Amino acid sequence: MKHLLSTKGLGRAEAIGLLDIAEDMADVANREVKKLPTLRGKTVVNLFFEDSTRTRISFEAAAKRLSADVINFSAKGSSVSKGESLKDTAQTLAAMGADGVVIRHPASGAPEVLAASGWIDAGIINAGDGTHEHPTQALLDAFTIRRRLHGTASRGTGLDGVRVTIVGDVLHSRVARSNLWLLTTLGAEVTFVAPPTLLPMDMSGWPAAVGFDLDAAIAAKPDVIMMLRIQAERMNAAFFPNSREYSRRWGLDDVRFARLAPASIVMHPGPMNRGLEISSEAADSAASTVLEQVANGVSVRMAALYLLMSGDREDS
Ligand code: CP
Repeated sequence: MKHLLSTKGLGRAEAIGLLDIAEDMADVANREVKKLPTLRGKTVVNLFFEDSTRTRISFEAAAKRLSADVINFSAKGSSVSKGESLKDTAQTLAAMGADGVVIRHPASGAPEVLAASGWIDAGIINAGDGTHEHPTQALLDAFTIRRRLHGTASRGTGLDGVRVTIVGDVLHSRVARSNLWLLTTLGAEVTFVAPPTLLPMDMSGWPAAVGFDLDAAIAAKPDVIMMLRIQAERMNAAFFPNSREYSRRWGLDDVRFARLAPASIVMHPGPMNRGLEISSEAADSAASTVLEQVANGVSVRMAALYLLMSGDREDS
């Protein structure tokens, strides 16, 4: 693997292989075993043009547990605010000897531009670009579902026949898109449930069922219900739904949570708008994987860094 830019182009065997490597990394990620020397002498740059808590910190932890040096770059307070271009920023990082670049950017496609540019010879990992993709979030979500369903026997398995309902602001969600491609590649059945105004106009070619009624979706007893964050920062006032109305029709409130099948998993990529798309009772329940997702993110990101930065990178 040369870069990790999306899950759309990820094959089933490649995805399962990455999840299996993440299983191998889990004891180190969870600090039960000391860090590995795998990336000693290599430098990972976290290049964040948008805010992040989970993704940035877990990439930093993942790189350090593989013994890499880590440079954290935030656009705020950098020369980007003086108008410096992505090209000049990338060339500056190249001059500092970056071997891997983890990039989050508000523009969809920015990681692809960087990977194709020749400005820097480093493995590029997309840590979220606009409304396009967030591949490591989807990988850690798949890893979390696999572990909940199959435990330690999950190695080598996909998610065949697992029914996943993804609810909320699909329009602005890179998490929804990356999960759609990855989960269906792994054999899961994905249903989106959302207000019509928070679905993309054109979903042709998307391998997902679509519904507008969350109560009907819950009555169908999905194995997994994934609540999406309302991304107010990407909406203008005309699109922003009335919070009370949104919560009443599309929120996982206590009543809906009580109707889920006992074995159902409740997921959220974070950060959560408690009381809007998810109630605290649901978010903090035993069915919730919210904190497992965060912890598993370190294992999955270790696997991604390992595949991109240890040894010779394959041209794929
Ligand atoms: N899920 C996610 O990407 O969270 P952050 O924005 O905190 O990184």
